[in-house]
Amino acid sequence: MPVRYISFLALLTGFLLSAQVQAEPDGARIYATHCAACHGTNGAADPANPALAGFDALPANFADALFNSREPEADWRLVVEHGGPAIGLSAQMPAFGGVLSQAEIDAVVRHAKSLADTRDYPPGEFNYPLAIRTKKAFPEDEVVWKLRVTGQDGDDSVRNVLELEKRFGKRWQGIVEIAHKSEGGHDVIDEAELGFKYVLGWDMEKQYMISAGLITAFPIHDRSESDVLIPMLMGARALSDDFLAQGSARLKLPFDQASDGEAEFAGVVHWMRSEFPRGVFPGLEVVASVPFDNNGTDRVKWSVLPQARFGLTRGGHVALNLGAEIPLSDQSWDVRGYLYLLWDFADGSFFKGW
Ligand code: HEC
Repeated sequence: MPVRYISFLALLTGFLLSAQVQAEPDGARIYATHCAACHGTNGAADPANPALAGFDALPANFADALFNSREPEADWRLVVEHGGPAIGLSAQMPAFGGVLSQAEIDAVVRHAKSLADTRDYPPGEFNYPLAIRTKKAFPEDEVVWKLRVTGQDGDDSVRNVLELEKRFGKRWQGIVEIAHKSEGGHDVIDEAELGFKYVLGWDMEKQYMISAGLITAFPIHDRSESDVLIPMLMGARALSDDFLAQGSARLKLPFDQASDGEAEFAGVVHWMRSEFPRGVFPGLEVVASVPFDNNGTDRVKWSVLPQARFGLTRGGHVALNLGAEIPLSDQSWDVRGYLYLLWDFADGSFFKGW
C-alpha cells in the first residue's frame, strides 16, 4: 500500500478517535477539576474543609445512596447549568453553564450519580406528579392536604384529607391519612387510613416502575360502618421526555361483606412542558369505579378529571394540584372540585426556595 494511503488512514483514524473523545467528555476528570473542592473527591463534602467555612448549606452528599437515588438526573443537570438558586438552593452552588458544555454537564452529572451504589433504590426519575385519584408508584416523603368540594347540598359537600407519606428503607413507604367531612351542618372526623407501599421493580431503559400497597380504612364517625381493606397496584411509565403516564388499580373490600366492595381503576397523563419545576403542568385523568355487585343501578361509574400541577417553589417541592371531576355516568353529583397542596419534605423546609 502506498505511503500516501497509510498516512491518510492514520489521519482518518486519528480524526475519528479525537471526535470520539470529544463526544464523550471524561466526567471523573471534570468532577475532579470543578466539583471535588467543595463536594469532596468521593462525593461526600468534608465539613472541616476550610473552603466551606461560612457556607449556608453543606454541599450535597453524592455518596449517600438514598439522597443520590431520589434526585432525578435532569434536576441535577439544571442545578449544574444554572446554579443553586435556579431550584431554590444556595447561591454557593455555582452555575457552570458558561464554563462547561452541555455534553460536559451530562458527563459530570453522570459521574456524580455514580458516586453511590444506588442499584437497589427506586430512581427519582419515577417521582411523577401527584394526580387526584391515581395513586403514585414512587415512595415519597410527603405531606398532602386534599380538599374536595362536591356540587351538591348537605352531607359530604366538603371533604378534607390530611395525608402523611414517609419513606422507610429502600423501597417502603408508610401511609397515614385522616379524613374530615361536613355532615348535617357539622364537621366530623370521618375516617382514618393506615397502610404501606412497596416498590416491586423498575426498568430505567423501558422507563417504568411498579409498586404494590395495602391500606386499611377505619370509620371513626359512623362506627356501624365496616373497616375496609384496600389492596392496590400502581404503575408509572414515561411515554416520552414530555409525557408521563401513571395508573393504579384498587380494590375496596369491606371486612363485613367483601361483595359490597368495588374496584377502582385510574389513569393519568401529565405534560411536563418545562424542565424548571416551578411551572404549570397540565394533566388529564380518567377513573372507572366498578361495583362487585353489578346488578340494578350499580353500574360502572366513569369520570374524567382535567387538572394542573402548579410548582410553587423554585424546586417544586411545594406544589398545588387543582382539578375538576366531571361525571360521565349517573353519579349523584354534578361536578367536584379538588385542591391538593403538597410538600415534599425530603427536599427541605416548607419555606425554602419560594
Ligand atoms: C464552591 C463550592 C461548590 C462547587 C465548586 C460545586 N458545588 Fe455543587 N453544591 C455546593 C453547595 C453548597 C450545594 C448545596 C446547596 C444547597 O443545598 O442549598 C451544592 C449542591 C449541588 C447539587 C444539588 C443537589 C440537590 O440538593 O439537589 C448538585 C447536583 C451539585 N451541587 C453538583 C455539582 C457539580 C456537578 C459540581 C461541579 C461541576 C459542583 N456541584 C460544584 C457547592 C459547590
